[in-house]
Amino acid sequence: MLQLKPPMGWNSWNTFGNNINEAVIRETADVMISTGLRDAGYEYLVIDDDWSLRYRDANDRIVPNPEKFPNGMKAVADYVHSKGLKFGMYSCAGSMTCCGFPGSYQYEFIDAETFASWGVDYLKYDYCFKPAGEDGAKLYRRMGLALANCGRDIVFSACSWGADNTADWIKSTGAHLWRSTGDVLDFWESIKVNFKKQFALVNRNGLGCFNDMDMLVVGMKNQGNVGRGGCTPIEYRTHFTGWALFGSPLMIGCDIRKMDEDTVKTLMNPDVIAIDQDPACRQPFLLGGYGQDPFYPDEDRFIVARFLANGDIAIGAFNLTDGPSNMVFQLSLIGLDRFCCVDLEMKELWTGEETKTRDGQFVINNLAPHDCRLYRCRLVKK
Ligand code: GLA
Repeated sequence: MLQLKPPMGWNSWNTFGNNINEAVIRETADVMISTGLRDAGYEYLVIDDDWSLRYRDANDRIVPNPEKFPNGMKAVADYVHSKGLKFGMYSCAGSMTCCGFPGSYQYEFIDAETFASWGVDYLKYDYCFKPAGEDGAKLYRRMGLALANCGRDIVFSACSWGADNTADWIKSTGAHLWRSTGDVLDFWESIKVNFKKQFALVNRNGLGCFNDMDMLVVGMKNQGNVGRGGCTPIEYRTHFTGWALFGSPLMIGCDIRKMDEDTVKTLMNPDVIAIDQDPACRQPFLLGGYGQDPFYPDEDRFIVARFLANGDIAIGAFNLTDGPSNMVFQLSLIGLDRFCCVDLEMKELWTGEETKTRDGQFVINNLAPHDCRLYRCRLVKK
């Protein structure tokens, strides 16, 4: 199967860690519908680590923990499907998952068959407990083949955190997305560090196998499994904007049963989601900053552009520093120098404000610390 857009959905890990069970999954499925998240594009509901017993059964099958999932996984999948959602699960390329449950190492084909029989549509595949001397590429290829031959379309979500030069071989494995970062935790510095690391990897992202910048911590507010102090609403918005502009999968990690207004507005902005899901999936490029021009000698301010399928341009300005900053960009850096007879009509996608470039440049005054702007720009004749 081909994956034509970065997947969108919800994953249990950030909030629930090992506290997942059937009731939580059913409630989450219900809330994905009642809040409008499904209609906004979030279609996968993924159960992460810690769902099985510690040992396989006599037939080498992984067994769902009956205390957490008393009706088995097929029943959970059926419920999720009955809501018009798709169902995701988790396993690992090593002998155990990161939490010490059975991994799929040397059981790839049997596990792929089990997942298919339960109605799984998406498999997140981790990288803990890889036996010494084993080659990561080989293990992901083996599971890639097992999934491609299991008789069901299953999105293969590789999660080797960029280790062992993942970017060099992941597209050979059948993976539809691959984790290009370590784990993002719920505090500003974690977002900032992981975001900036992506500049080196944007040329690896593309249609069919997307760079996965990890699950969103938007709206976690220091609650749950990866809560590490939390972020402000502005910081969550900047996080979401960066992930969308870089075309990452958008997997929500907060407890969606308890979203506040800021969280809903951030996660469900249709214009920003449309940038993430733009069908061309083009590579973003630097328009200024990130230590590459004299205006912004530091790496914490940058302006990034991405060409969209209909001829528009997405432009994001990010101020990750701790003070306010003016941001300037020149159209000539997109190739639109003064001999081109076009200006840009720009809509800022968080405020709806409409504006226009003048004299070949655009200035943002006093962009607040950790804040950003995201514009959808249309070319107009001067
Ligand atoms: C790794 C992954 C996380 C999560 C945990 C589960 O750390 O990167 O996303 O799946 O394992 O144990």
